[in-house]
Amino acid sequence: MTAETQGPELARRTAACRYDDETYARLAADAAEIVGRYPHSRSALLPMLHLVQAEESFVSRDGIAFCAEQLGLTTAQVSAVATFYTQYKRHPNGKYTVGVCTNTLCAVMGGDEIFDSLSEHLDVGHDETTEDGQITLERVECNAACDYAPVVMVNWEFFDNQTPETAKGLADSLTSDDAPVVPTRGAASVCSFKQMSRVLAGFTDGRADEGSGAGTASLAGLRLARENDWTAPGSEAPEGAEDKAPAAVEQEATTTKAEPAVGEQQSSAERETETTEDVTPGGPTSSDTAGAKETDK
Ligand code: FES
Repeated sequence: MTAETQGPELARRTAACRYDDETYARLAADAAEIVGRYPHSRSALLPMLHLVQAEESFVSRDGIAFCAEQLGLTTAQVSAVATFYTQYKRHPNGKYTVGVCTNTLCAVMGGDEIFDSLSEHLDVGHDETTEDGQITLERVECNAACDYAPVVMVNWEFFDNQTPETAKGLADSLTSDDAPVVPTRGAASVCSFKQMSRVLAGFTDGRADEGSGAGTASLAGLRLARENDWTAPGSEAPEGAEDKAPAAVEQEATTTKAEPAVGEQQSSAERETETTEDVTPGGPTSSDTAGAKETDK
């Protein structure tokens, strides 16, 4: 049977990709949806790499061939991109990537000690996976969560204010895999690496609004600004406003302002938490919540 007789999903298939027909057709349908989001098919490469990573837990030779076929690229072009970004794995990844931030602030606050203790506890080094396939340990650069340093991430979910002991407890919970593991903030539980990769490919799991968007430490500046009536440049009252009656100023503002002033809208960071895992000073620690997880779909 030729590719042409097997349906449009398989029409571009070559011998370079060894996915079975069901897998190829399923991924090709997903690829068509991804490519449809962009004006040029090659622009879809990054989410496509996450898509194939969601299938095999890494970007395999078959995954590279699949992306090349779907996007009209050479395998060399796809490989060049896949090997540039550390988020794309070139060998099978564990069910959970445990990323210990050892960038400047986290390092000062104990990130290196956390990594060393986890490395010894799990008997793996950087970018190595435990024998049971549960955990891949990584050093990672700044996770943009410096206000909660030292930070550990599991499949890009935050575990804030860690210590060597809480991090080892977290690793034990991931290894035992007998109950959901709850991040410090954000999603209500940690998903698998494959599930996370599919979300990064652009297929929502419906969990984006779980948990709080930010904790007290991240919002400290906003709180101080409000307490001291500080405003961002350009959002001050218009010149001469003090000479006008308040009602006139209000009317002018509502009729001339096309965009909301900076800080006027409630950001997602301020939305009410839906879980109790919004860890703020005095709140629960990750060791309280480290516990379970979901299984691969
Ligand atoms: S230095 Fe670790 S989160 Fe920024």
